[in-house]
Amino acid sequence: MGKGDEGGTSAAVAAVRKRLGTLKPRVAIVLGSGLGFLADAVADPVRILYSTIPGFPEPGVAGHKGELVAGTLEGVPVLVQAGRFHLYEGHPAEVAGLPARVFAELGVQILIVTNAAGGVRRTFPGGTLMLIADHLNLMWRNPLIGQPQPGEQRFPIMHAPYDPELRALARAVAREAKITMEEGVYAGLLGPSYETPAEVRMLERLGADAVGMSTVPEVLVARSRGVRCLGFSIITNPGAGITGEALSHTEVLAVSEQVARQLAIVLKGILRRIDC
Ligand code: HPA
Repeated sequence: MGKGDEGGTSAAVAAVRKRLGTLKPRVAIVLGSGLGFLADAVADPVRILYSTIPGFPEPGVAGHKGELVAGTLEGVPVLVQAGRFHLYEGHPAEVAGLPARVFAELGVQILIVTNAAGGVRRTFPGGTLMLIADHLNLMWRNPLIGQPQPGEQRFPIMHAPYDPELRALARAVAREAKITMEEGVYAGLLGPSYETPAEVRMLERLGADAVGMSTVPEVLVARSRGVRCLGFSIITNPGAGITGEALSHTEVLAVSEQVARQLAIVLKGILRRIDC
């Protein structure tokens, strides 16, 4: 897919639209590791396999499925993205951002992104749920490079990338459900190697609270189209050098599933009260 190639986006949009029938999704939810079960909570689901959507590759990471699930969650028409495209798999940033472009074209007003992340702030151990307040793009890639696609701003304003009103709603829902939720800055890195202790110390000094390998491209695309964003990190492990213990991908998946249950409660509470 070339830069400014609306063809790539519109072919994918057409394929998804055909499957939606009369459903008009208002909210899209991108599921990170451990949150796959939320796709099964969608009522009257229409499962759209990536293999049927032009431009959508098959995701390559264990624990990530490759489908969009359309339907309703808590009565809200949604599109759930199960399986995302990471830059570390070799995908260009525009492929990572393609689903967000498709969602915006289909009329989605709100993008909710979730991810698994490492803790950078020393008081964020594994098992912390973090609302994303802001991000650092340390991927040195941007899906908006090239000709702007129709409906996209050339220079998107990023002063409030994660919508303040939606964040306030998320905090209120978590508080009422008695779920502890921290808030902080997500640093997006290319990966796939986890960070070194020196890199974690660097990230701390740069103002990051969590570190991961996703989310940033989607949010950049969404903001360029005026889609409001809300993001959550499930902190599965302290960053390298913080506790002196090594981590494994299996451990990352196991911890994320526990916190994912709490995040699912928060997400459902938000959907019940969301205004879009
Ligand atoms: N670093 C980057 N990405 C991650 C981590 C981490 O420590 N844990 C889960 N995703």
